[in-house]
Amino acid sequence: MRNFTSVHDVDDVTALVNLALELKQDPLKYANIGRNKTLGLIFFNPSLRTRLSTQKAAHNLTLRVMDMNVGQDSWNLEIRDNVVMDGDTSEHIKEAAAVIGQYCDIIGIRSFPSLNDKDTDYKEEVIQKFITYSGVPVVSLESATRHPLQSLADLITINELKKTARPKVVLTWAAHPKALPQAVPNSFAEWMNHPDANVDLVITHPEGYELDPKFTQGAKITYNQNEALEGADFVYAKNWSSYKYYGNIISKDKSWMISPEKMKLTNQAKFMHCLPVRRNVIVSDAVIDSPDSVVIQQAGNRVWSAQAVLKKILEDNF
Ligand code: CP
Repeated sequence: MRNFTSVHDVDDVTALVNLALELKQDPLKYANIGRNKTLGLIFFNPSLRTRLSTQKAAHNLTLRVMDMNVGQDSWNLEIRDNVVMDGDTSEHIKEAAAVIGQYCDIIGIRSFPSLNDKDTDYKEEVIQKFITYSGVPVVSLESATRHPLQSLADLITINELKKTARPKVVLTWAAHPKALPQAVPNSFAEWMNHPDANVDLVITHPEGYELDPKFTQGAKITYNQNEALEGADFVYAKNWSSYKYYGNIISKDKSWMISPEKMKLTNQAKFMHCLPVRRNVIVSDAVIDSPDSVVIQQAGNRVWSAQAVLKKILEDNF
């Protein structure tokens, strides 16, 4: 594996999940593999879990870590090509990526979408330009359209907790006061649809919230949340803004919040969310505080997801 930007970069998903589970049992088993190597973590947006779990994973592999918040710790970067840079941006991504590649052996990038321009966002310019100009392997820490380290952690969590060989997994939209990216649901759908995930994926949302079919193909999609939740083994709640009416909030229907009544429709499902989550907006206190909520285990698994990916990149490239 050279870069990690989606499930398509992984040649054996089952082996990667098994490696993550092995690392969870014995975090320092491959402690020497990153010795004298440096990981750069570059954030265009805020983060709690991704920043700290990736640092922890790197430390377990003896990687040195440098992190930087673009625009706060560094110059504002220009992403567009062929522009006269007489505005707010002081440095072009071409030089910035190439320079960071001189200091780091692997680079992690977090860059959210604008939600203004679908074509530009879905081109993934920031992460693609880091791949082109840095000269080193690049790991997505959540890009405009995907969050693969989160999705891998989600798959690890489902593998740990499933009670049947092929569980029913429901991805459900819930209302939110702000317009959020489609990266988490896109990526979750893409990973759950991979044959190695071995789940039955159902996606439910109000009309107009259809995700890009590139990510959801193979899943059952319904506008009826109660029908979707029937017999579910895992309920994954998440808000996203409309892909069709790009970046817009077209429903504020509070009845989509996951409540104890909704969880009663399921097969005593485990409740999942990538966090951060707005309590009593996406999910009620009673559900997220219940024994069936696995959001902390899910966040804990972000370490093993990142460590498995970093180990594989170190092994394959150095
Ligand atoms: N789930 C997740 O990526 O969390 P952060 O945004 O805090 O990193």
